[in-house]
Amino acid sequence: MANKSYKIAVIPGDGIGPEVTNVAFEVLQKVAKRHNVTYLERVFPFGGEHYLRTGEVLSNDSITELKKYDVIYLGAVGSPKVKPGILEKGILLNIRFSLDQYINLRPVKLYPGVETPIKDKTTADIDFVVVRENSGGLYSGIGGIMMKGTQDEIAINSKVYNYKQVARCVRYAFEIAKNRPRKLIALIGKTNVLTYVFDLWERVYNEIGSTEFPEVKREYYHVDAACMHMIKNPEKFDVMVTTNMFGDIITDIGAVIQGGMGMAASGNLNPCRTAPSMFEPVHGSAPDIAGQNKANPIAAIMTMKMMLEFLGEKSAGNDIERALNVVTPMNLERMTTKDITKAILENI
Ligand code: IPM
Ligand code: MN
Repeated sequence: MANKSYKIAVIPGDGIGPEVTNVAFEVLQKVAKRHNVTYLERVFPFGGEHYLRTGEVLSNDSITELKKYDVIYLGAVGSPKVKPGILEKGILLNIRFSLDQYINLRPVKLYPGVETPIKDKTTADIDFVVVRENSGGLYSGIGGIMMKGTQDEIAINSKVYNYKQVARCVRYAFEIAKNRPRKLIALIGKTNVLTYVFDLWERVYNEIGSTEFPEVKREYYHVDAACMHMIKNPEKFDVMVTTNMFGDIITDIGAVIQGGMGMAASGNLNPCRTAPSMFEPVHGSAPDIAGQNKANPIAAIMTMKMMLEFLGEKSAGNDIERALNVVTPMNLERMTTKDITKAILENI
């Protein structure tokens, strides 16, 4: 039984962020009550609107403040009025890096009754997790630009990894694979072209796999082939582990095959728990449909489930999972945000 009161920092953000976050917290309130889980939440205003109003993207003091919480729940940040890159780097990447959330865990699971664009595939075929490295690679920010605006201009973004970053990510992925029934893992890389970075990844993968996880079956796919298989034969995959950029790209394919961005959850995890982890739906702020009772809150609800599981509140998470399995066959396309919320709450 839970006896701890969790401190949750909430960043509803922009666009549909606040409405789907509200739904997620209504769901939390209901399951928390049933399982004697207590929590304190504090809402932070960060996002595009806050930036335009105050000039703050996310200050160092705010990062220090966020570190005092057990977990962070983020709805969506992004505004068409803010130049691309400012909020993404200033808020999302800043939090991921500052709090050492080195794993981005993205389950790809087709729920019952949800339509996948892949012909003849069912819930049995689409059920895997992507472990996306979340601290380095092309996202490391190493690079630069010179002689801008001239014909001699040079622009560099470097794919940077060290041994430790690779080892901790790969090890985490093997742990997950070991605890799933199929015990199958695939490294997704590009060993035929990116011969330095993936030499490191492949060596570490084989070394850790063979010495620490002999019971897990190891596979390898080039990223382009993996994209093809995710659409042609998604049943090939159980756990996929990959770099930051490849993980970003393949999880959009993952989102689509599990029914769309409204169905995709993610956790930015600090598995060592030296700082809070952050849970966010994969979708963005969708300003075009904000405030119209149209947003699909399922991804936000699944994200809440992930957060509870990370906190060790398995039975509360199971309640949400059961409700999802009842509600997803209800033709979500034709339901409003409120309809879906009501249906979920009724089934908890
Ligand atoms: C995601 C997003 C982010 C990423 C952007 C908004 C920085 O696409 O969470 O997948 O690239 O990681
Ligand atoms: Mn993305």
